[in-house]
Amino acid sequence: MGNLFSYAGKRVVLTGGATGIGAALAELLDELGVEHLTILDIKEPTGRCDRFIRTDLSDPASLDAALEQLTDRIDVVFSNAGVAATAGVRTCMAVNVAASRRLTDTLIDRISEGGTIVYTVSMAGNGWPAQIADITTLLAIEEWDEFLDWAEAHPEVVNDVYAFSKMCMQVYVMRRSYTAIRQGIRLNSICPAPVDTPLMADFRQTMGDDAINWAVSVQGNGRMAVAADIAPALALMGSDAAAFINGENLHVDSGLSSAMVTGLAFEGM
Ligand SMILES: NC(=O)c1ccc[n+]([C@@H]2O[C@H](COP(=O)([O-])OP(=O)(O)OC[C@H]3O[C@@H](n4cnc5c(N)ncnc54)[C@H](O)[C@@H]3O)[C@@H](O)[C@H]2O)c1
Repeated sequence: MGNLFSYAGKRVVLTGGATGIGAALAELLDELGVEHLTILDIKEPTGRCDRFIRTDLSDPASLDAALEQLTDRIDVVFSNAGVAATAGVRTCMAVNVAASRRLTDTLIDRISEGGTIVYTVSMAGNGWPAQIADITTLLAIEEWDEFLDWAEAHPEVVNDVYAFSKMCMQVYVMRRSYTAIRQGIRLNSICPAPVDTPLMADFRQTMGDDAINWAVSVQGNGRMAVAADIAPALALMGSDAAAFINGENLHVDSGLSSAMVTGLAFEGM
């Protein structure tokens, strides 16, 4: 059977590999024997990277130009890059949702059978059931600018744009995986709780210290995750060990989502 967790012989594409979770993943994939690693990022990575394509994921022309260069075999794609609400509604929805979707639609026919796309989403998207009608309406808009125009024109829906972008992605993964698996490709996400990366300063600015500190205090182990806590879950979902996992938004949050959904997190508040 071989080592189901190994990346030997695998060619991987990773977005957002310069810092934070993506940089930790690049290091881990190197340890796991990855054959070839391409990174698409606005910033140049400093760790393991066999081909760097400078890409601005908020710009469809830049993304398309990068995707055109990906002509050789691809086994695993990690759509990991993301920005916080500090980037503004248009950029946040573009990088976190529109780019992930365009990357998927362009690369899915080029990924080897049995291959996979793994998205870095967030537990910030757990509130999707209350917004499913709007999310479905928005995801039905395929054209890039029209999609962003809708988001900008609906501030009552998109008032917390980071959370909304991640709700869209949780729903997207569940829906798109249904057709992707019929062509032999698995789609899953991982949904972390707060992680100590360069994005954390932006989250503290938009969500406030109290919300972040409360989330960390509810987690079973009582400390904030670091990128190295999250990267192994991405690697697992992209590996052959996850061959029967599809359409899953895997929480990597030390129990925070479970505590919130059962109400235990709010007892004594
Ligand atoms: N840090 C957290 O608390 C947390 C929690 C849940 C989910 N996430 C998600 O994890 C993912 C990685 O974030 P991180 O926390 O490692 O932060 P980070 O800022 O360290 O990493 C983001 C990466 O995306 C790249 N990037 C940003 N804008 C880009 C653009 N326009 N074009 C191309 N690349 C761009 C950055 O250069 C960087 O390498 C994001 O999708 C984020 O939403 C983070």
